[in-house]
Amino acid sequence: MNPVEIKPGVYWVGAVDWNLRDFHGYSKSSRGTTYNAYLVLDDKVTLFDTVDSRFTSELLCQIAQIIDPAKIDQIVVNHCEPDHSGCLAEIVDRVRPEVMYVSKMGKQFLDGRFHTHDWPLHVVGNKETASLGKRTVQFLETRMLHWPDSMVSYIPEDKLLISQDAFGQNIASSQRFDDWIPWPELKSYMAHYYANIILPFSAQVPKALQAVQELGWDIDMIAPDHGLVLKDNVANTLAAYQEFAAQQPTAKAVIVYDTMWKSTAMMADSLASGLSAEDIEVKLFAIKSWHHSDVMGEVWDAGAVLVGSPTHNNGVLPLIADMLTYMQGLKPQNKIGYAFGSYGWSGEAPKKIAQWLQDMGMDLPEEPAGIKHVPTHDQAKDLFAVGQRLGRQIKDRATGSR
Ligand code: FEO
Repeated sequence: MNPVEIKPGVYWVGAVDWNLRDFHGYSKSSRGTTYNAYLVLDDKVTLFDTVDSRFTSELLCQIAQIIDPAKIDQIVVNHCEPDHSGCLAEIVDRVRPEVMYVSKMGKQFLDGRFHTHDWPLHVVGNKETASLGKRTVQFLETRMLHWPDSMVSYIPEDKLLISQDAFGQNIASSQRFDDWIPWPELKSYMAHYYANIILPFSAQVPKALQAVQELGWDIDMIAPDHGLVLKDNVANTLAAYQEFAAQQPTAKAVIVYDTMWKSTAMMADSLASGLSAEDIEVKLFAIKSWHHSDVMGEVWDAGAVLVGSPTHNNGVLPLIADMLTYMQGLKPQNKIGYAFGSYGWSGEAPKKIAQWLQDMGMDLPEEPAGIKHVPTHDQAKDLFAVGQRLGRQIKDRATGSR
């Protein structure tokens, strides 16, 4: 890809990772991703963020099409995760910047990961400003969005927010802006990213948005570190983040299960039919066919999460243990939970799942269901009725819109 001028004198100089499918080792990126870096030409030539180390030469090549990389005066490190800082040692060696702006926690990360003794690190305070010449930049710490070091940079003269991971989406494309993709599709990618990266820190999101409002930042473009630069959907994006953070339950249920000999699958189908009969949107995941991050992409706004596993070696099947571990770490809020599963002799799985869901803070209005061997017709009808009852409760509690 070539550099793209996103504002006069401001260039995207990042890298497109078309073939990435394993994002950070835990989330699927079915459409690849990008590592966005931005170069601002001003009295002080400034580079905002860098790229994954696998793309160091691409970054330097992008910059070289605009200016000799050695002419970069300043580097802003908004976020230290390796997809944005992995190439820093080589870039600093090449550029020899006069100053590198970083948050207090960011300096700790950089000191821990690199030999920074001769790096011109300048720790910026929250809301501190720096001059680029004709432009200024203001830094806002956004701790735990999603790392302790995270901060964002705002350039008022360009009404430009460089937002690091916030508002990112895992979309590799030849287009740099958001004007070619319908908003609902873009929002779904943004939600998938949020649900797998930022969800556990949702309480920080309204505070950060409030801080932006109080600072009076007039934003007409958001330049995140992943995916498309947002110019047509700035208001949509800010509203979406409020929505993602609130996790208001909608009339939607996620059923995720694994199965050995199809009995637990039959239970899942009966529950899905009961929920559907109450006009609940059902997302059914036989976990062997899905990635846990895709399930979470639907869990964030679901009213209920139903989890099923047959009992195996006195516990749950491994993929369900993985799913529950992953889900618990992401701390979904405002959910009804339900546990189910078949068994041959001991039957511990549903109770173990129920405990797991309870530990996540979910409400469990129905007893966990364990069915020995294969569901009978009457047992299938009972599960259908459970689905209906859960469906009515989901509707009663639904406050968000689908
Ligand atoms: Fe895109 Fe938290 O790194």
